[in-house]
Amino acid sequence: MASIREVGRFQRIGAHSHIKGLGLDENLKAIPIADGMVGQTEAREAAGIIVRLIKEGRMAGRAVLLAGPPGTGKTAIAVGITRELGKDVPFISLHGSEIFSTELKKTEVLMRAMRKAIGVRIHEFRTVYEGEVMDLEVKTTRHPYNPYQQVPESARITLATRDERKTFTVGREIAAYLIGQGVRIGDVIQIDAETGRVIRVGRSEEAKGERYEIEAERKVPRPSGPIKKEREFVYTVTLHDLDEMRSRRGSLLSLFFGGGEAEMDSTVRQEVDEMVRRMVEEGRAEIIPGVLFIDDIHMLDIEAFSFIARAMESELAPIIVLASNRGITRIRGTDIEAPHGMPLDLLDRLLIITTKPYNADEIREILKIRAREEDVKLTDEALEYLTKIGVESSLRYVVQLLSPAAEAAKARGSDVVDVEDVDKVRNLFADVKRSVEELKKFEELMLR
Ligand SMILES: Nc1ncnc2c1ncn2[C@@H]1O[C@H](COP(=O)(O)OP(=O)(O)OP(=O)(O)O)[C@@H](O)[C@H]1O
Ligand SMILES: [Mg+2]
Repeated sequence: MASIREVGRFQRIGAHSHIKGLGLDENLKAIPIADGMVGQTEAREAAGIIVRLIKEGRMAGRAVLLAGPPGTGKTAIAVGITRELGKDVPFISLHGSEIFSTELKKTEVLMRAMRKAIGVRIHEFRTVYEGEVMDLEVKTTRHPYNPYQQVPESARITLATRDERKTFTVGREIAAYLIGQGVRIGDVIQIDAETGRVIRVGRSEEAKGERYEIEAERKVPRPSGPIKKEREFVYTVTLHDLDEMRSRRGSLLSLFFGGGEAEMDSTVRQEVDEMVRRMVEEGRAEIIPGVLFIDDIHMLDIEAFSFIARAMESELAPIIVLASNRGITRIRGTDIEAPHGMPLDLLDRLLIITTKPYNADEIREILKIRAREEDVKLTDEALEYLTKIGVESSLRYVVQLLSPAAEAAKARGSDVVDVEDVDKVRNLFADVKRSVEELKKFEELMLR
């Protein structure tokens, strides 16, 4: 029997799942350890000011650049900014190299990413099943195309209101929504009767036990009345979702005809924008600009940079956060050397936040948080040893060693990671410095 927690782990434990915000007090001062964030206080405080600017609508035409060595929390801070902006705010991460797709134009990749980073919160009256989750069992099966991946197959869920209690068996789609939303026992949820879309309304006041990762989440009363009812249903989709629905490329047929990667007709996007505008005017929808995070920005070329510069000006633009761990380097597509490989006119419009390497105490605290998040138990000696490795190589590297080390411990029949396990995986897996050197060699071979 699989519980939702176990199933969820396959997909939900991302490298930054422990980041719940920027960990600032009301005066925007960084609390040393808060919201899953440790240290890096100046960068976090700067990010806090950016969040204020965004909320006050004063970031238009500007973007943020996070600059710092590998593993210093650039991505973590971008995630923190998104969390601070609110619930349902999309976070889309694009690696600079991803724009060089063989099937799509560079600008199409960027355009698509932008539209994925803009949420539309829609209010509708619909028939829903609503209640507190009393019991939940998700059955998983192997992914049809990837035997190493588990996907949900169906679920049995018991919902209760103050007046009614019912158990349902639901199919793959709803099970996937349940996992996607991170639904657990004690949550109050709504399921749209027609589409199966699931919404987590909040944590029930009556629920027992705290959910570590959503400490700050609002509590809601257990609903009353019947489980099935007419209700205002509020859900968030992205402009990209709407583009897909409009052009029906999301359907199964596209699998056979390969329509999925075709370029989106620009009239489809105009129609979607038109429709969204109308809904906003009628009070049926709100726009939620999210964060488009573009990592390794030096990988972009001059054409892509000018697209971004233009996009920053447009009315429907996400917050653009760029990251770089490079110094002066050539702007791709030119012979010009520039900071972070970016054109100066774009650099001029950035608010730049720098991140610095961590000290041992900070690395130890981050490791503790990550170990808790990944359910990895460590002896004190193993924690010290990992901390030491982190100081010598990088935070990113030791964070990534946690789950292989747990695997090594398991292989010798222990569920607690000890020094020997760390030693073992450290020898098996290269650290960031080594791999970055490899990459540099590789880059020289490719680009000259
Ligand atoms: N200040 C922090 N507090 C808590 N966790 C952090 C902090 N900084 C980084 N982390 C975590 O450490 C790991 C490495 O950090 P991250 O990936 O954000 O570094 P990065 O600067 O983006 O590196 P790169 O240049 O290689 O992309 C991640 O799991 C991240 O969530
Ligand atoms: Mg990163």
